[in-house]
This record gives sequence, C-alpha cells and structure tokens, in this order.
Amino acid sequence: MRNHLPLVGLFSLLGACQETLSTDPADSGARDTGIATDRPVTPTDGASAETTRYTPMGCTHRVTSLTGTFDNYLGDRTVFGPVPEPRAVHVSWPADPATAVAFLWQTDAATRATVVQYGTDPAALTQTAVGSVSTGGSGSNEVTMHETHVCGLTPDTTYHYRVGGEGHWSVVQYFKTAPAAGRTDYDVNFVVSGDARDNTTIWGQVQSRVVMGMQPADFQIFTGDAVLLGTQQGAWRQWFDGAQATMSVMPFVMAHGNHDVLAINYLMQFAQPQADAEEQSELYFSFDYGPIHFVLLNDSPRDLTGSIAGTQLTWLRADLGRARTNRSQVPWIIVAHHKPAFASSVHSNSADTALVRNTWAPVFDEYGVDVVLNGHEHDFEISKEVDGRGQEVSGRRGTRYIVAAGAGAQLYTLSGSARPWSAYFESVVNFLRVHATMTSLEVTPYRLDGTIIAPGHINLTPRP
Ligand SMILES: [Fe+2]
Ligand SMILES: [Fe+2]
Repeated sequence: MRNHLPLVGLFSLLGACQETLSTDPADSGARDTGIATDRPVTPTDGASAETTRYTPMGCTHRVTSLTGTFDNYLGDRTVFGPVPEPRAVHVSWPADPATAVAFLWQTDAATRATVVQYGTDPAALTQTAVGSVSTGGSGSNEVTMHETHVCGLTPDTTYHYRVGGEGHWSVVQYFKTAPAAGRTDYDVNFVVSGDARDNTTIWGQVQSRVVMGMQPADFQIFTGDAVLLGTQQGAWRQWFDGAQATMSVMPFVMAHGNHDVLAINYLMQFAQPQADAEEQSELYFSFDYGPIHFVLLNDSPRDLTGSIAGTQLTWLRADLGRARTNRSQVPWIIVAHHKPAFASSVHSNSADTALVRNTWAPVFDEYGVDVVLNGHEHDFEISKEVDGRGQEVSGRRGTRYIVAAGAGAQLYTLSGSARPWSAYFESVVNFLRVHATMTSLEVTPYRLDGTIIAPGHINLTPRP
C-alpha cells in the first residue's frame, strides 16, 4: 500500500490550516501475531505484509506498521541486501522508559534481518530480540526502517546493545533505563532543544555541545521542526548525522512540529507510544521519568480545532487529572509541544498560537503544570510565572513557559517589544539542561558557546 500525503496537504500543515486529509486506515491485511524473541514469525509465503501488527515478547503494547508503509517484514534474521550495515542507530521509548525501549536503524530496502543483541555486560550480549522492518516515503525520499522493541528490562540499569544481524552488526552502544516507579532518591538530567531545520552544521554543534564536559543526560526532548519539510529524507539524514554523538545513547522524545508535516518519514524514524486513533498515535502521550510526569502534545494535527480543542483536550484533561492525584509520588508536571502559548517573537500573534493559548494554557494552569517547553520561535525566551491568561502570579501558583529553539533554524528577533508575560528573551542558538529531584527543578539555558544564559536560569520548589 503506497498511501502518501498529497503535496497540497503538506503545505496546509506547514501553515497549520484546518483542511482534513483523507487517509485509509486499511487494517484488512493486518497480521496480529505475538512475536517471541526466540521464535520469529515470518510471512509464510515470503511476501511482505501490507501491515504488520504484533506484541513484542514480554511487552503489553502492540507495534503496528504505519499506514503508508510497504514491504513490511516481521521476525527475519537472515535476509541481507547489498547495503545491510545499520545506519542512524538510535533508541526511542514506545512504552514505560523504566522497562521498555525500541532500537531503530536504517538499511537498504532489501535487508529484512532485524535483530538486536543486548545485555548488561558489553562483552556478553546474551539476550536476543527480533523486530520488524518497513519501507515508506516516496521516490528518492524512501526510507527503510528497522525497529525492535524490548520490554521487561530492569529499571535504572545500563544496557549495552548492537543491532543488525549476523555478519552485519553495528558497533556496541549503550542506554540506561529510567528509575523504577516510586523511587524518590533519583536525580534526572535531560536536555531540551528544537528547530534544527535549515542548518545542520549548527545542529551538529549543539549536539556535540550537550555532551561536552557535562554529566551525560538521561534523554533529550526535541521541541519540533527537525527539518524544513518532513517528507525530505535527505534532510532527515542530515539531522540524524548531526545527532550521531547522542542519539544512540540517549533517547530523543520528539514533539511534532509544523515543518515535520505528519510525514511518514517522521513517524517511521521514531518509536513513540502508539494508539488506536491515528490522530494520537506517536504524536501525543505521557510518561513518568523519576520525579517528573511528562506530557507530549501535538499542536500541528490535521484537524487543528477538532484535535486541539476536542479529542486532544479531552485526553489532556484526563491525563493531567491522574498526574495531579499522583503528585506526592511524582511532584513535577512538564508539558512539551511545539507552538508557544506565551512568547514574544514572530508567531506570537498568529491564529494557531492563539488557539493553543486560549485552549491549553487555562488547562495547564488548572492542573498546576510547572513548566511548558516549546519551539517554533527560533530563540530563547522564558515567561514570568503566569496563570492561564498570561497574568503574572506568585508563590508557585503559576507556570513557566520556555522557548528552547533555534538549534539551526534562522534566528528570530522580538516582534516589536517583549510581551507583558515575558521575563527574558534572547535571539541566540540555545539548549536547556534540566535537573530534577523530588524537591527541586532546575532549568539552565546554554548558548552554543557553552555560556549560561543567566537571566533564564530558574530553580523551582514543588507546589505547596
Ligand atoms: Fe520553526
Ligand atoms: Fe514551527
């Protein structure tokens, strides 16, 4: 099945208009096959399946190949094409980061072997798992992506791994699982950046900087607009090249940006939590990591109002309601999405940021969200502590909105003057490091040269 977005659809998403695109969720060819790590399941006739759907060994989540992919194979260990060496090897979180991980990599289209070896000793990768491979994208933008999901991992543990198959292994890499739920003695460190598009040299420099002379982060959050146009595989190749220093050892958690255009290339190249509804699948979800509840939202859906003010809003309220009742265990709530409700640059007067401001910000306020991380404006900006209308409040009753973007995209300046809700703005390439314990949440913004953006530094205490 080759089901690509029409070009007109791409450009409407860039501008985030409300056009609804028709897609065919065609599930008729689905293979609902539990897959065991030691008993791979392969399509019996040797032909590819239109859709693969399976529950990886030990997991409770299902993996379904995406609408628009083709040549889907499951559980192969032996078939290699002419260029089988794994490229763009990285890890993603399809489920609880304390116990699950997905390994992803690219090869030529003829390679079907999708094997991972892993273990806690780099010299003894004693566990083996097999996964699925799909091809998607159009013409010269085709990409063949392998993904293998593993569950039942031990929390707070470093695992070593290699991917590919016999005779064609990647180098051995490592990643660390999140702490077990309920642990209160855990420090979490993560990095935030966004808007790499246009300039992959700067993007590569940002990624080199985040691991330079600093304690390694546990993971990264990317605030959207990885590439100029999400269907262009050449741009994704450059993005992954730029992230080579980090992505195989720290998972990226991706917020979908308007330039990513819901492209099959975007969705295939990360493995985020899937859902039955295509509108939600891999695009909005939440997870706990140590003392933080994270919520990822999609502010560039096909049906802008129907999702942002409808289905997604309903889901958001339910999710934040649960998080609020769990604050004694998980004290911090952080939301990440692309378009900032409260910022002062070129997009701050547009209709789509107004929709987010009027629809989501009051909900963030109602449920006590501590920090909202955004991109879209290519600069650094931090708001005052504000309520759902952007009015300054005190005593940890409000939310801090932080724009961390411009990791390659052309920088923006203030649109007129800073808005009343703005605490500090700087037109500069930047990234954040966030450090959280049960009792403090510290955000430190950095410039590309490694200097700290001092007026943007905050250290929060939990809400009373
Ligand atoms: Fe952008
Ligand atoms: Fe954007």
